[in-house]
Amino acid sequence: MIKIIYANEKHFPSFHQALSIVAKERVYIEMIEAPPLEKVASFQKDLISKNGPVYYALSGDKVVGWCDVFPEENPRQSHRGGLGMGILPEFRGQGIGSQLLQKVIEHAKTFGLEKIELNVYTSNVSAVALYKKFGFEQEGLIRKYRKLDGQYFDCLAMGKFL
Ligand SMILES: CC(C)(COP(=O)(O)OP(=O)(O)OC[C@H]1O[C@@H](n2cnc3c(N)ncnc32)[C@H](O)[C@@H]1OP(=O)(O)O)[C@@H](O)C(=O)NCCC(=O)NCCS
Repeated sequence: MIKIIYANEKHFPSFHQALSIVAKERVYIEMIEAPPLEKVASFQKDLISKNGPVYYALSGDKVVGWCDVFPEENPRQSHRGGLGMGILPEFRGQGIGSQLLQKVIEHAKTFGLEKIELNVYTSNVSAVALYKKFGFEQEGLIRKYRKLDGQYFDCLAMGKFL
């Protein structure tokens, strides 16, 4: 049984653990290891204090996925927000990413955001398919966006107007 909840402080260590596992896969998200717990907690707290869009998927009391949108800080760009998400490997392909994304999109609308943006590696076929399913459109292709261990990753810039 998976529950989707609004993020809260009690689950920060478990969220940090999930972030760390996905980061260490090295192929899906920007970071290759999670920042220290205190730093991650501070970013999450900041978003929660603004009632920003940030949700966790729980299996029991364990965070197995997350999705958040961080509004841009510059007031001339704060109508836009950047999306990040991840699901633990053994929980993928079960509809959890879709549930989280649905929640975050609804929340982002009521929060007053006008647009959600993200960058996704072209090699990340599942994520690109998920975003397209939810109405994100490709806005650009950034070639050789990332270089890791001598390997280049192109990325798509995608956006969805709310
Ligand atoms: C991308 C990710 C978030 C998707 O979450 P998920 O829970 O596995 O996705 P869902 O089960 O809800 O599937 C949603 C859609 O994603 C796509 N998808 C999921 N798995 C897929 C696969 N193996 N191949 C192709 N498309 C796939 C499909 O469009 C699917 O919709 P459908 O079931 O109607 O066909 C998850 O795979 C993940 O965490 N990946 C690693 C981290 C990551 O890539 N984060 C995003 C970085 S931009």
